[in-house]
Amino acid sequence: MHIKLEKITKIYQTPYKELKVLENLGLEIKDKDMLTIFGKSGAGKSTLLSIIGGMDTPTSGRVIVDGVDLSNLKPDELADFRKKRIGYIFQSFNLLGNLKAVDNITLPVILDTDKDKKINRIMELAQEIGIKDRLGHLPGELSLGEQQRVAILRGIINSPEIILADEPTAHLDNENSLKIIEIFKKLNKEQGANVVLVTDHEGVASRFEKRFNLGE
Ligand SMILES: Nc1ncnc2c1ncn2[C@@H]1O[C@H](COP(=O)(O)OP(=O)(O)OP(=O)(O)O)[C@@H](O)[C@H]1O
Ligand SMILES: [Mg+2]
Repeated sequence: MHIKLEKITKIYQTPYKELKVLENLGLEIKDKDMLTIFGKSGAGKSTLLSIIGGMDTPTSGRVIVDGVDLSNLKPDELADFRKKRIGYIFQSFNLLGNLKAVDNITLPVILDTDKDKKINRIMELAQEIGIKDRLGHLPGELSLGEQQRVAILRGIINSPEIILADEPTAHLDNENSLKIIEIFKKLNKEQGANVVLVTDHEGVASRFEKRFNLGE
């Protein structure tokens, strides 16, 4: 997938004043590119990631995906784009609280004809990152780091063309952080998935060849 951001500005309206979070930002993500978006808390990393993923719209500027301006898509086309092509890993997980971890993970593929293959593969990864025996729990019965790993598996089960991961290792120990980064690298190498990983952690960012610094 090829993504081009042109002159992106994002202004939030707050009751007292306007808050300009992104200004005139340009960024190109080439097909099969892997990069990290690095910046301190409040720099606008989550805002930028949600704009790339078509979850939020810029105040001005354009997001062009494979030559198509996202603002020209109809709502159902945009929903389709998000569902079929993007694997979004939310900073605050967005797990469904009344579904077991396993059901949260498999929800995106439950209607797919090849779901068994996808589920088997994701279970191997669950084993590898040490949450296989927690998958019968509800999210509220899991530690933050376990919930984070569930959110990661849900984000990648559908072999998305692009993985947009918002601080996906923030709640993980060092060993699991490295495992997650290796899984992303493998998906990039073997399936050609783009990976955009947001972090404020130098040790995580340093694992990527390409880095986009946000803020001063
Ligand atoms: N819906 C909103 N309305 C108003 N202001 C917002 C909104 N969402 C974010 N902001 C503000 O925009 C700025 C950037 O927020 P954002 O969540 O993108 O930062 P971030 O770099 O992801 O931070 P963190 O590392 O803490 O997750 C912050 O100052 C935040 O207060
Ligand atoms: Mg954030």
